[in-house]
Amino acid sequence: MKTYSVALIPGDGIGPEILREGKKVMDAVAEVAGITWRWKEYPFGAEHWLKHRKGLPTLMSEEDMAQLGTHDAIYFGSVGDPRVPEHVGQAGGLLWMRFYFDQYINLRPAKLLRGIESPLRGKRPHEIDMYMVRENSEDFYIGLGGHFAGTKSSENLELLRSLYQARFKVEVTLEPGGELAYQIGALTGRNSERVIRYGFELARRKKLTRVTVVHKANVLTNIYGLWIEKAEMVAKDYPDIELEFAIADAMSMWLVRRPQWFQVIVAPNMFGDILSDLAASTVGGLGFAPGGNINPDRTAGVSMFEPIHGSAPKYGGLNKANPIGTILAGKLMIEHLGEERAAELVEQASEDVLGTGKIRTYDMGGTSSCSDMGDAVAERLLQLKF
Ligand code: NAD
Ligand code: IPM
Ligand code: MN
Repeated sequence: MKTYSVALIPGDGIGPEILREGKKVMDAVAEVAGITWRWKEYPFGAEHWLKHRKGLPTLMSEEDMAQLGTHDAIYFGSVGDPRVPEHVGQAGGLLWMRFYFDQYINLRPAKLLRGIESPLRGKRPHEIDMYMVRENSEDFYIGLGGHFAGTKSSENLELLRSLYQARFKVEVTLEPGGELAYQIGALTGRNSERVIRYGFELARRKKLTRVTVVHKANVLTNIYGLWIEKAEMVAKDYPDIELEFAIADAMSMWLVRRPQWFQVIVAPNMFGDILSDLAASTVGGLGFAPGGNINPDRTAGVSMFEPIHGSAPKYGGLNKANPIGTILAGKLMIEHLGEERAAELVEQASEDVLGTGKIRTYDMGGTSSCSDMGDAVAERLLQLKF
């Protein structure tokens, strides 16, 4: 019997309730598949920060991060609370984990399951079925920028990563009363290449035939010029897989007009953030969308699995949120741990429950609770054959 040690971080808002249901389903699949989970729950979130870390820029400490790194995976709810500055939970929590553990892939599948009605007319189950591979550690997310008011400023900005360092010197001269804000985006060749290669490998593993690479190189020529170069280079190693380019603005149009066209999409961090919410909407909404923050080399960094949505504070504690995104994030976690069949069962049980149409959370136009959905999926799982 395989044992996996997993860190649970419920977080804020709806985080605790959706993760509770996710864990319930993971416990059920463990029973069926002969897996043992060693869960350890961590309190990182608004309450913990207000009590123990108020004023500090990060949700957790370096020691906390090191501790998280000892697990086989992290199962995460969501963070974000009106009482805590946004940068604490995001730059100092969620994004910090992505960077710290070098989770350079953000895998966000979007599949139209049976029983879910797409807001797009006439879509059949599984007709929409794509894998969004979002670059997860660079681009405009590196957190370097500035906001000057005054006439002259000089700033040294540093991007210190274990794999490389970059320093930017910025000098600004403005007219009296002037103001300027800027944000630096950066991509390294090595990272671009490994993200795009992951997309092609994924296509090969899933027996797919096309990889669509999103960019905006017509305007952001440097950063996405490099991205395109690496895509063309990597594609040469996969002659059986078609490489297609799509400019980000047109891509948002195509995702609405013809989502069924897409198989694997590889997108830079910021466009991937936006387009993955859009892709999720084509398959029912944010409540259905899972994400994996993955370092494919399990020895190099722990991976973290979460729904792609946030903490939806106004629904927090109401037991109303849809837990399917979190449950399917658990599926991605199991798949990452190498338990392919168990992963399939999680999706099958979810789809069986959605397909009957009996359990529908508020976002599906129903009145079922978050725990009704979790209970039903867990119960269905226990009936499935491994
Ligand atoms: P959000 O994703 O939290 O919610 C937007 C809307 O989507 C909700 O109001 C709700 O209508 C719907 N929704 C989201 N999850 C749902 C679910 N499981 N079931 C049903 N409906 C669901 O985005 P937001 O309101 O822009 O952000 C709220 C907070 O979450 C902010 O603090 C933000 O920074 C944070 N955030 C955190 C994460 C994360 O932890 N991974 C991701 C995105 C946003
Ligand atoms: C997501 C979220 C995060 C992101 C925020 C909350 C930092 O929107 O996981 O998609 O932009 O990556
Ligand atoms: Mn997002």
